[in-house]
Amino acid sequence: MSNLEQTLSIIKPDAVERDLSDQIKNEFKKNGFNILKEKKVKLDKVDAEKFYQVHQSKPFFNDLCEYLSSGTIIVMILEKENAVLENRRIMGATDPQKAEDGTLRKKFGISIDKNSVHGSDSIENAKIEIDFFFKD
Ligand code: CMP
Repeated sequence: MSNLEQTLSIIKPDAVERDLSDQIKNEFKKNGFNILKEKKVKLDKVDAEKFYQVHQSKPFFNDLCEYLSSGTIIVMILEKENAVLENRRIMGATDPQKAEDGTLRKKFGISIDKNSVHGSDSIENAKIEIDFFFKD
């Protein structure tokens, strides 16, 4: 049975700054993802706070929002069978030091904040996050 899903991916400021976006997009394509839509965005802090509102009670919330709004990001809608889980598998653990070999965060991440990519953590959040960037 087909389980074609969409998920939201963000190439974060640390990776855009280091010119890694083409390499990261190629990894997605190589792994069978279709990039349905993409755009470059520069969020302000209020937008970042809205985007990461599920984390608002976390101690790292302020730094996280400062960081996401610190530079250009690339947002993409990725499509594939089981896209949400597949994207998380390819990204690896949130902390690059704990991510498995071959994952994006292991290859490119610098720290738990500068971990190069974000991906939706559930189908429900994928819909919310896709709407956040692409509803218009
Ligand atoms: P991301 O997948 O974008 O979702 C929330 C982000 O918070 C996460 O990646 C990390 O970059 C960042 N973060 C910072 N500190 C932590 C932490 N202790 N646990 C989880 N995420 C953290």
